[in-house]
Amino acid sequence: MSAEFPTARPRRLRRTPALRRMVAGTRLHPADLILPLFVKEGIDEPAPVQSMPGVFQHTRDSLRKAAHEAAEAGVGGVILFGIPAVKDARGSAADDPDGILQVALRDVASDVGDALVVLADTCLDEFTDHGHCGILTESGDVDNDATLERYASVAVAQARAGAQMVAPSGMMDGQVGAIRAALDADGFSELPILAYSAKYASSFFGPFRDAAECAPQFGDRSTHQQDPAGPLEEALREVRLDLAEGADAVMVKPALAYLDVIRRVRDEVDVPVAAYQVSGEYAMVEAAAANGWIDRDQMIMESLVSIKRAGADLILTYWATEVARRL
Ligand code: PBG
Repeated sequence: MSAEFPTARPRRLRRTPALRRMVAGTRLHPADLILPLFVKEGIDEPAPVQSMPGVFQHTRDSLRKAAHEAAEAGVGGVILFGIPAVKDARGSAADDPDGILQVALRDVASDVGDALVVLADTCLDEFTDHGHCGILTESGDVDNDATLERYASVAVAQARAGAQMVAPSGMMDGQVGAIRAALDADGFSELPILAYSAKYASSFFGPFRDAAECAPQFGDRSTHQQDPAGPLEEALREVRLDLAEGADAVMVKPALAYLDVIRRVRDEVDVPVAAYQVSGEYAMVEAAAANGWIDRDQMIMESLVSIKRAGADLILTYWATEVARRL
């Protein structure tokens, strides 16, 4: 055989499905997936979210059903978002023991709390009439320290209702420490915190604001969420601060446009790293698929594999139940 012919032939290991499966370097498992679910107060039927085909604002009953289906499929966790009937400037429904999110946490924790992890998103934007993630100053900026007191109270209300993990998503400085102290003082020192640590001010959150009815009435979130063009080290700093404040796991969000951040964080820390495949990532795939422009199922799997390969241990995805069934 002449020297022109390759002795190294990478194609050998790609020849059959069995070979490709055996040598795969990235494997998804249902338990890696966390399903975000929306529950809305005062509706009789689940309401489809226009910009997220297949996603619903649930009633209490349909939420229980969706959580059961997730558990049945082996999904690792569900994270609940609540949409109250009445909103006000301080987001009072967020820490009301009878508020929709607390009621839903109680339902889901008693139904499937042994089969999967019940998480609560800890923030105020779904609960405030202005749509911002906290208490506003007179000039309309989010008041960091006043908001911390609210987050502490919200996390405690969520824990008392049955949340098994809280996930502060508001990007206030010191939020993890404030929540940790409040939980400890209320007898929840064993309750873990998944910190949305590196969260960017992203256009990929657009459809979520329909789903959770939390579009800011003015301004945006760029005084607290990270600038997409900010230095990569800023994400590492946020992660380190959250860990120093007591975070048990950290999150990067969005996922697909921030795979480099996921990888850097994974290399840096010794706790589980989650990535949130957000509403806009979901909507892009569903919209293109509805037009027949892409192979939907393949693109879903490819995007999840890429997030896992980048270093995410856990993935929050609206496709969690569907994908868990397929795996
Ligand atoms: C804040 C929160 C948001 C998302 C999760 N938690 C919205 C925001 O920060 O504007 C976005 C999730 C998604 O886009 O799928 N409570």
